Amino acid sequence: MEFKLNSGHAVPAVGLGTWQSTGDEAYTAVKHALSVGYRHIDSAVGYGNEKEVGRGIADSGVARDRVFVTTKITNSVMTKEQAAKQIDESLANLGTEYIDLVLIHWPWTYERNAAVYSAMEDAVDAGKIRSIGVSNFNIHHIDALIASARIAPSVNQMECHISLQNTRMHDYLTGKGMVLQAYAPMKSRKISDVLENETLKKIGNAHGKTPTQVALRWLIQRGIVALPKSVNPSRIDENFALFDFQLSDDEMHSIRKLNRAERLFPEPDNVDFGFLEL
Ligand SMILES: NC(=O)c1ccc[n+]([C@@H]2O[C@H](COP(=O)([O-])OP(=O)(O)OC[C@H]3O[C@@H](n4cnc5c(N)ncnc54)[C@H](OP(=O)(O)O)[C@@H]3O)[C@@H](O)[C@H]2O)c1
Repeated sequence: MEFKLNSGHAVPAVGLGTWQSTGDEAYTAVKHALSVGYRHIDSAVGYGNEKEVGRGIADSGVARDRVFVTTKITNSVMTKEQAAKQIDESLANLGTEYIDLVLIHWPWTYERNAAVYSAMEDAVDAGKIRSIGVSNFNIHHIDALIASARIAPSVNQMECHISLQNTRMHDYLTGKGMVLQAYAPMKSRKISDVLENETLKKIGNAHGKTPTQVALRWLIQRGIVALPKSVNPSRIDENFALFDFQLSDDEMHSIRKLNRAERLFPEPDNVDFGFLEL
């Protein structure tokens, strides 16, 4: 399953998350994921694993043009020049001639966001990047960015799971022709909330699926990209076995009722840049 982007390219509905995967663990996870059918890897400069992700893709035996790879420009990048330099470094680290998707990892001032984005647009012109977008942007950040952008952003990647469903943001992005990518799709460090959720367990039992598979299927059935992270081979497999069942409207609705507006990551308007390099 894949979703069309406004850049003309398509993004696979499920991507392997790689935050907190480093070194050999990241390399092995990427290689394993590609061997079982993943075609989308989510990385970031801030994760410190671009080299391992690039090596994993290169050694997987899957052709580069069949894999969708994302990276993100770090919070420390404030100017157009710094952004251009970091894009070239990401290309070298990933060992690739182009990157499928580059995102601004977190917003800062409108001026800084526009300057960084302008370097990303130039990199699209130069064939270094195929699609560009943002992450952790609120609606006001996106509106301001679009006002000065030459190339429309394709994606907003943000925290999204059963307890923080982002319905309004999803509607807004759909209206702008943008795709929502869900990070922490299984509630990250609070994954036990998903594993022990009675609604997800009941629905899962009806389909012979686990609560995590139901939580991920629910996202992609909404047209949202899911980015489950794992370094464990059997969990990597489990998180991709989502395409042989379908949730009914009633099941989708009962998961809808689990929304608690519960945020695990910083609110983008209050992020402290000294605090996180996500
Ligand atoms: N743009 C941003 O600011 C931002 C922020 C956060 C995350 N992200 C992206 O989104 C990805 C996903 O978010 P996340 O890593 O925070 O959280 P997540 O994917 O919701 O959860 C990952 C956690 O769940 C465990 N796990 C994975 N599959 C499991 C399963 N089937 N059963 C039980 N446990 C399982 C993992 O451990 P094991 O590895 O041991 O399996 C890990 O501890 C990140 O890796 C990153 O690529 C982006």
